[in-house]
Amino acid sequence: MTFAANMIQVESRRLPFQAQHDGRFRGQHILSVSQFSLDDVAYIFDVAEEFRLIVKRVGSLEICKGNILVNLFYEPSTRTSSSFMAAMHRLGGTVIPINEVRYSSVSKGESLPDTIRTLEAYADAIVLRHHEVGSVAQAASVAHKPIINAGDGIGEHPTQALLDLYTILQERGRIAGLTVTMLGDLKYGRTVHSLAKLLAMFDVRLRYVSPEILTMPPELIVQIGEKGIEQAEYTDLNAVIAETDVLYVTRIQKERFTDPAAYDNVKDSYVITPETMALAKPDMVLMHPLPRVGEIRMDVDGDPRAAYFRQVEYGVFVRMALLALVMGKA
Ligand code: NCD
Repeated sequence: MTFAANMIQVESRRLPFQAQHDGRFRGQHILSVSQFSLDDVAYIFDVAEEFRLIVKRVGSLEICKGNILVNLFYEPSTRTSSSFMAAMHRLGGTVIPINEVRYSSVSKGESLPDTIRTLEAYADAIVLRHHEVGSVAQAASVAHKPIINAGDGIGEHPTQALLDLYTILQERGRIAGLTVTMLGDLKYGRTVHSLAKLLAMFDVRLRYVSPEILTMPPELIVQIGEKGIEQAEYTDLNAVIAETDVLYVTRIQKERFTDPAAYDNVKDSYVITPETMALAKPDMVLMHPLPRVGEIRMDVDGDPRAAYFRQVEYGVFVRMALLALVMGKA
């Protein structure tokens, strides 16, 4: 049985399945987690797992030799852009990095569709991060090459959600039955929006802990509720820490606030310390998409439950899988 099937099959509510490696995703855009079936997720994870083992053994592959990826980032990024870059290089391909494009740019006021039509002429795929919700879908509508959403404003961050789920599988060996608590900026945090949707494919319990002004978007709660997922909202982490299997901490998204005083009021709402960890289960997994700006104290890093740097590493394998798949190379 395959890696992902093995881990998901026993636990999922939608059984049985076995990922069929059938060339799906070739030439396709990756825009939202909503486009994936459970079988798709298993398929991606199987490929990621294969790549993880190969990288561990020999460091890199050559299956994307000669392929070119454009990394087009209209918003700042260190992790996601270098993660895609590392992934492409490990597949044997190369990357054209275009970072922190100013809005007037590529910089003379060119429209996003024109930028995409131009850059796709150089590339086999484009990874796009943009400050507006829906902009990546708009780019995809004019593109002839696969577009991968690396974050569209407060909308979605599907590749992050996939790597988060893969991390949970790696750390806990299963997903169903887990209580996942999301903490911090649940209003503006695109990573939690995508992850909550993805987790709703499984039999999980979701707990949302945030300041009152930063709760999960109500329409998302409705959408997830329709899948039969038990959800509950809190302002106090102490109310749920003891029952939590995965604690997913997020940064308060300062750049989304129009009122700096409102940001100042909530910026220090939650800080994970060794004292917090003492209240948690011995096998709880502590995650963060990073960057952190004080939500997890550095003296927690040595705790074996702190998984955020392993999460970064898993991300490269998931992105290798996605790149190879959309380029038809897996
Ligand atoms: C996240 C993002 O950009 O949405 N970071 C990331 O992709 N690793 C989270 C954040 O910026 O807080």
